[in-house]
Amino acid sequence: MTLYNYPEYYDIAFGYRDLDLECDFIEKQIAVHSRSNNFSLLDIACGTGSHLVEMGKRGFEVAGFDISPKMIEYARKKAELNGVDAHLWIDNMVSFRTSRKYGCAINLLTGFNYLLRNEDVESHLYRVGNVLEPGGLYIIEMNHPREFITNKPSTSNSWVELNEDIEVEVDWDNERSEINLLTHIVTTRPIIRIKDKKKQLTIKMEEKFRIYLYQEILHFVKCSEHFELVNAFGSFRFDKPLDNTRDSWRMILVLRKK
Ligand SMILES: C[S@@+](CC[C@H](N)C(=O)[O-])C[C@H]1O[C@@H](n2cnc3c(N)ncnc32)[C@H](O)[C@@H]1O
Repeated sequence: MTLYNYPEYYDIAFGYRDLDLECDFIEKQIAVHSRSNNFSLLDIACGTGSHLVEMGKRGFEVAGFDISPKMIEYARKKAELNGVDAHLWIDNMVSFRTSRKYGCAINLLTGFNYLLRNEDVESHLYRVGNVLEPGGLYIIEMNHPREFITNKPSTSNSWVELNEDIEVEVDWDNERSEINLLTHIVTTRPIIRIKDKKKQLTIKMEEKFRIYLYQEILHFVKCSEHFELVNAFGSFRFDKPLDNTRDSWRMILVLRKK
């Protein structure tokens, strides 16, 4: 069972995110760092497609893929409802192919952390490099590296969100394991409890994700030959660099295709 099979509840669970702020951030990074005139955007592991739909409304030509058919089906409906013409398909970020070229790619929340092996990261960066125009950006949001050092999440991972009469209670770090010092992989068994009018549902997941260190990513980027790192942030606020202060709680990297 996975929350990714219940996109409508996923959107409620992650409804605390500030979509406008995050899309402003993407636009600003493009304005400042991109050297491509191609105003198209590929959302990798796009989930329910909220960001690509918002970027479509802002005038970008948008596309996205995800490994979950339910997420893609839902993202298609969302795009249609919002009058956004989006190219959406089911694919794996390790092995995806597309003949189109994009001016920017994004991979938000923790999609990148599902790349568990070095070979997966190498293959992924190679493929993203191939679909970006020279000078185009790849913006990646992932867990803060302090989670590796301290083996604790950098924020509370239990929360409740309410949308009209649907309540979604999330305990993402249930039974969180010690980080494996050789693979950098953590396992958790997230529990999501849903109260939807008369229906109640409990989703019990089993998750494996990898926490990346900053230096490790720099090395992957250098070895990929496609990219250079142009900026690193600790949140979607422009004035919050990646560092070890409390309000730096994500690792958001801006890569540029050479
Ligand atoms: C935490 S969600 C993030 C979704 C979206 N980027 C967002 O910001 O809401 C992670 C997404 O990654 C997708 N995913 C996991 N492994 C994947 C893979 N190998 N290839 C493509 N998508 C993957 C999941 O189906 C899920 O939709």
